[in-house]
Amino acid sequence: MIIFFSGTGNSHFVARELAKALGENQLVHLKGELLFDPLKSRLSTTDKRIIWVFPTYSWGVPPVIKRFMNEATIKGAESAIHYMVTTCGDDIGETASQWRKIANKKSWHTATAYSVIMPNTYVLMKGFDVDPVNISKEKLELAPERIAEIARRIKNEVPGDILTKGSWAKIKSKIIYPWFVRFCMSPKPFRSNGRCIGCGKCSKSCPMHNITMDGDRPKWHDRCALCLRCYHICPCDAVEYGNATNDKGQYFLE
Ligand SMILES: Cc1cc2nc3c(=O)[nH]c(=O)nc-3n(C[C@H](O)[C@H](O)[C@H](O)COP(=O)(O)O)c2cc1C
Ligand code: SF4
Ligand code: SF4
Repeated sequence: MIIFFSGTGNSHFVARELAKALGENQLVHLKGELLFDPLKSRLSTTDKRIIWVFPTYSWGVPPVIKRFMNEATIKGAESAIHYMVTTCGDDIGETASQWRKIANKKSWHTATAYSVIMPNTYVLMKGFDVDPVNISKEKLELAPERIAEIARRIKNEVPGDILTKGSWAKIKSKIIYPWFVRFCMSPKPFRSNGRCIGCGKCSKSCPMHNITMDGDRPKWHDRCALCLRCYHICPCDAVEYGNATNDKGQYFLE
């Protein structure tokens, strides 16, 4: 079984490619009710492995994944071996250790962990933007080889992680990550600008059902994963996050 979460398509792509390479036919997309209320989820598997695929957020596990792992009922999870594949724009810090800690608390048996570099999606702070087209293209060209290697290693139960942790991994994950989760994940600054045509695409595609249409304008509520799908998917580049998104680019992988 592959359980995945994806805001802008990168992790969805990786999950799909892994499923093809490994012949996995149970692909669970974490969105809607599953994400919104993990306590109500009733997943079940007889597979010998569960592969968790999700993006790295501020050098750590996205809070929605943490919550899902802690709260969801997954019959068969105790007898399966768990793997992690995280996608990132650059590096993941200690995301794998965080994921192992959550799994171990559930008494789940963890095996190897991997990261795949994909185009960057984080645009909400000064100095952060999507990649230039050539970098994005290069990352997308290199990814299939990395995914194939990960699939080979999982299939053959090869020991050892393959991770791009980057520099200052412990500081980023142990100090910046908790600060980011506490102070930088609010959906309050989201708004639409004058370019909005009221198409409702942001609202329909939000994995948390966090956006309703108020007449012909989207309205953000407070159950947000900060996945940035609404920002990147807007056909009119009409979603803003305070002033942080002025002149920032968009990226979305179908
Ligand atoms: C809130 C947020 C935080 C992020 N933090 C990191 C990070 O710490 N390191 C990194 O390399 N990329 C970071 N990124 C980029 C994403 O991890 C990366 O683009 C990922 O592939 C997006 O996956 P998705 O398209 O499946 O949502 C972040 C993106 C978001 C939205
Ligand atoms: S996707 Fe963009 S244009 Fe469409 S309703 Fe949302 S903000 Fe407006
Ligand atoms: S409101 Fe936007 S950023 Fe928040 S979960 Fe929905 S799509 Fe993602």
